[in-house]
Amino acid sequence: MSTDGSDELNLTKDQPDAAVGEPVRSSTATAAPAADAYLSVRDLRIHFDTDDGLVKSVDGLSFDLARGRTLGIVGESGSGKSVTSLGIMGLHRTAKARISGEVWLDGEELIGADADRVRRLRGRKMAMIFQDPLSAMHPYYTVGAQIVEAYRVHNKVSRGAARERAMEMLERVGIPEPRKRFSDYPHQFSGGMRQRAMIAMALINNPELLIADEPTTALDVTVQAQILDLIRDLQKEFGSAVIMITHDLGVVAEVADDLLVMYAGRAAERGTAEKVFTEPQHPYTWGLLGSMPRMDRDRIDRLNPVKGTPPSLINVPSGCAFHPRCPYAELNGGSSETVVPELREVAAGHVVACHLADADRARIWTEEIEPKL
Ligand SMILES: Nc1ncnc2c1ncn2[C@@H]1O[C@H](COP(=O)(O)OP(=O)(O)OP(=O)(O)O)[C@@H](O)[C@H]1O
Ligand code: SF4
Ligand SMILES: [Mg+2]
Repeated sequence: MSTDGSDELNLTKDQPDAAVGEPVRSSTATAAPAADAYLSVRDLRIHFDTDDGLVKSVDGLSFDLARGRTLGIVGESGSGKSVTSLGIMGLHRTAKARISGEVWLDGEELIGADADRVRRLRGRKMAMIFQDPLSAMHPYYTVGAQIVEAYRVHNKVSRGAARERAMEMLERVGIPEPRKRFSDYPHQFSGGMRQRAMIAMALINNPELLIADEPTTALDVTVQAQILDLIRDLQKEFGSAVIMITHDLGVVAEVADDLLVMYAGRAAERGTAEKVFTEPQHPYTWGLLGSMPRMDRDRIDRLNPVKGTPPSLINVPSGCAFHPRCPYAELNGGSSETVVPELREVAAGHVVACHLADADRARIWTEEIEPKL
């Protein structure tokens, strides 16, 4: 991948604002970006043609992210988090990908924009820390040369000045003896070191939107904390918008302002991180929180983690994609099995895609969920 492919970050903020109880999906699909949104995703669909059929990896996703905010995206493996990120970055432009919807970045629509334009924005305005560091680095060039190049593509500086900046970044991400390691090739780095080098490459241009896809999974706890601090510094200094994708709900709880819970390529729930953690509304979110490790509770007091396996994205279950695994599916007179739930606002800025009637949700919340949270 070219060196401009890896650096940016930004976030969107939560969305809109239909009256409580009203479906918002149709309106968000066409609505103009929220006034303060730096990133605005509207009805994004990313499907792939494969020999087995059409894979609906992302299927109607909308959200906004303002500068200075961090959006956490959570959801189990295969729910479409990385495909969404790569789609925002314009990295799915292949014959097999069918993409529709809108991605607005700082007022500019990217899905319909030409590839050169998106490439120019990548690395400068938006950057990504990739889940797989190897995919972000070219095997034939040294790590140092790639980071220098990522900087020089967007900044008119001498090679020497770019080299100094690259060293500084390598040092900041915790690479020991950066001057020595500068001329190593990616395969000479350990997995954790490659991850850090890629983070250096993503952050070197101070992106206004940074998408961090599992940025700290291969790293030990100390380095993980350093990296999160680095991202926070970037955000503070440059008002960057950040999307943080992680399986680690502890990390999300620490860094996210807003939270998007994805299931089968769609939003199950979205709201401020505080609301989603303290008053989750979707049965899938209840299960996710049940799988969070907790030392302060006996097993018996815990929420039940999600049972069953992730759905096929080729034959997505009818109605609510979560219905085969949902303990409450039968409460809705068959609509869970037949009708795709739209996002409804259940409190200001807090939306949920679930057919549960308010009275049922309130009862389940009070009797089963809240006592175990
Ligand atoms: N190029 C592609 N062609 C076909 N299917 C794809 C392609 N890229 C991703 N997918 C499928 O899209 C779905 C969503 O993948 P994605 O990588 O976004 O999941 P994820 O939420 O990031 O999961 P994880 O937590 O494991 O990283 C998966 O079923 C994946 O197999
Ligand atoms: S719509 Fe039905 S199946 Fe889906 S989460 Fe709500 S109750 Fe469960
Ligand atoms: Mg992923």
